Amino acid sequence: MRRVAREDIEIGGITIQAGEGVVLASDIGNRDPRAYRGPDQLDIGRNPRQHLTFGFGVHQCLGQPLARLELEIVHSTLHRRIPTLQLATDIDHVPFKDNEVFNGVYELPVTW
Ligand code: HEM
Repeated sequence: MRRVAREDIEIGGITIQAGEGVVLASDIGNRDPRAYRGPDQLDIGRNPRQHLTFGFGVHQCLGQPLARLELEIVHSTLHRRIPTLQLATDIDHVPFKDNEVFNGVYELPVTW
């Protein structure tokens, strides 16, 4: 995300002056060990409310309740309907997208 400061503002001891541009890398912010314990570890018990994936502040994603609901439904349904679902290849062979905006994989071979 890119933003332009409308007025001088201090964040983390650094002053951003009015008119200056800022590039916000929320994916990197989500992995800041000063903000999150063990940020690179999958921890399904952690508090899911404090991340930056849906943005922050007044323009935080309006669709996040729908996105959360869709993900909850898809994961629980898949797990219930196909409990033996598993990767059909080594995780190192899964082609991840080399894209700063959209994370994901090009394909995910599975078996059950
Ligand atoms: C996992 C799915 C999604 C992710 C990761 C996501 C992420 C984001 C992010 C990072 C922003 C920018 C927030 C900011 O500027 O601070 C945003 C804004 C927005 N999103 Fe999403 N989004 C998702 C799904 C959706 C869905 C399903 C909808 C609608 C059905 C939606 C509607 C919007 C809208 C309308 C805004 C603009 C809000 C504003 O500027 O006030 N998003 N989203």
